[in-house]
Amino acid sequence: MDKFVIRGGEPLLGTVRVSGAKNAALPCMAAALLTDQPVILENIPQVRDIQTTRNLLAAMGAEVELGYGRAQHRTTIHCATLAAPEASYELVKTMRASTLVLGPLVARCGHARVSLPGGCAIGARPIDLHIKGLERLGTKITQEHGYVEASTDRLKGAEIVFDKITVTGTEDLLMAATLADGETILQNCAREPEVADLADLLNKMGAKITGAGTPTIRVKGVSKLRGAKHRIIPDRIEAGTYIIAGAMTGGDLNIAGCDPSHLNALLSKLHEVGVKTKSSADSVRVMGDNPFTAADMSTEEHPGFPTDCQAQFMALATQAEGTSIITENIFENRFMHAQELVRMGANIKIEGRRAVVRGKTPLSAAAVLASDLRASASLVLAALVADGETIIDRVYHIDRGYEHIEEKLKGVGAQIRRIGEMFPKKAAAVK
Ligand code: UD1
Repeated sequence: MDKFVIRGGEPLLGTVRVSGAKNAALPCMAAALLTDQPVILENIPQVRDIQTTRNLLAAMGAEVELGYGRAQHRTTIHCATLAAPEASYELVKTMRASTLVLGPLVARCGHARVSLPGGCAIGARPIDLHIKGLERLGTKITQEHGYVEASTDRLKGAEIVFDKITVTGTEDLLMAATLADGETILQNCAREPEVADLADLLNKMGAKITGAGTPTIRVKGVSKLRGAKHRIIPDRIEAGTYIIAGAMTGGDLNIAGCDPSHLNALLSKLHEVGVKTKSSADSVRVMGDNPFTAADMSTEEHPGFPTDCQAQFMALATQAEGTSIITENIFENRFMHAQELVRMGANIKIEGRRAVVRGKTPLSAAAVLASDLRASASLVLAALVADGETIIDRVYHIDRGYEHIEEKLKGVGAQIRRIGEMFPKKAAAVK
C-alpha cells in the first residue's frame, strides 16, 4: 500500500492545473450505456474511480478506450451490445457511484442487476431514492442476495419528488427518463454543476432535458439516443483543495483551468476566514500570507458549502485564531479526519454532527491514516504546514479522486513523495 511522506513548511508558489471533475465524468461514462453509438468524453481525470468505471462497463460488454497523455485524457465508450447488464458487488463495493448504471441499464436493456452498495466509511448511504424513482417510472424492482433486480417493458414518464436531495439519485433518474415514454418531471433535484454537465451531454446525445442545475428538471422522453462528444467540466473539489493548500501554506498559488462560478460558497467562506483570492474566468489566485480568523461553516447541498470540502476546511480551521464550529449536514459520519488531525496537534471536539475546532494550534508531523477520499486530502493539507515529516498511510483513497496529487503539489514547491510497500517501512527523508 502506498504512503505519502510530506515535509511541511514550504509555501506553495506557482501554478497548479485542475483536472476534469471525477463526479461529472462518472455519470457521463454511465450515460454511454444509453446508446449503441460511441460516446467520446474529454478531460477525463486519471484517477482510480475512472478505471473502476471502465472495468464495470467493459464487464457488461462495452468497448472502452481510455487514453491519457498530451491533449488526450479522453475515453471513447461504445456500448454496441450489452451482453451482461450487471454490476457486481466486487466493483460496487469499491466505488458506490457504480449504482449510476442502474437507471441507464433499465432504460436501454429493460433489465439490470446491480449490487446494493452497503454502508461506507462516511455513512449508511442508501439508494432507496434511486429505487423509488425508478419504480415511479414503471420499473419492477426486487432485492435478493444483496442485489437489486430491475425490469420493465417500457419506462413511462412520471412526476417524481425526491424526499431528500441526492446527487447521483438525480443523475440516475435523469438518465433513465431520457428514454421513457412521455414527460418526466423531477422535483427537489440536486443542483450540483455535475448534474448540469451530465444533462449537457445527454442533450448532445439527443435527449430533451430542461432545468438541469435547478430544483426542477423536465425530461421529454425520446425513443433513441445517439453518440456525442463532450468535454467534462473542471473538478471544483480538487480546485477547492488546492486553494486551501495555497492559503494554509502562506503561498501564492494560481489554480488554473477551474470554473470559479462553481466555487462561490467556498470562496466566500474563505474570504470570511481572511484568505485573499482573485478570480479570472478560469482561474483563482490565492495569496495566503495573512492570519486567519475562525468562522463557522455548515455543509449544504449545492449551491451551499460542499461536504466534499469539509475535511479540507477543517484542516484550515486548525490554523485560524478562535473557535470554528463545523456542521456536517449531508453525511452522518464524515469526521474521521478529525482524530488524525488531533494526533497532529489540532484541538477538535466532535459533538454529533458538529466539530468544534479551537485554533490556532501548531501542527506536528505524525504517522496518520487516510480513511476516505476527502479525509486524505485534509491530512495532506495539515502535513503541508506541520513541523517535520508526516507519513500518510492508505493513500489509495486519495488516488480514487485526485489526479497525480503528489506531482501537482511537488510542481509548486511541496516536499512530498510517494513510497510503495516495496520500500522499507521506515520512510526515507524527503529531499
Ligand atoms: C455525491 C458525490 C459525493 C458527494 C455527495 C454529496 C458523486 C459520484 N459523489 O454522492 O462526492 O459527497 O454527492 O454532495 O457524485 N441518500 C438517501 N437515499 C438515497 C440517496 C442518498 O438517503 O437513495 C442520502 C445519503 O445517505 C446522504 C444524502 O442523501 O445522506 C446525500 O447523498 P447523495 O447526494 O446521494 O450522495 P452521492 O450521490 O452518493
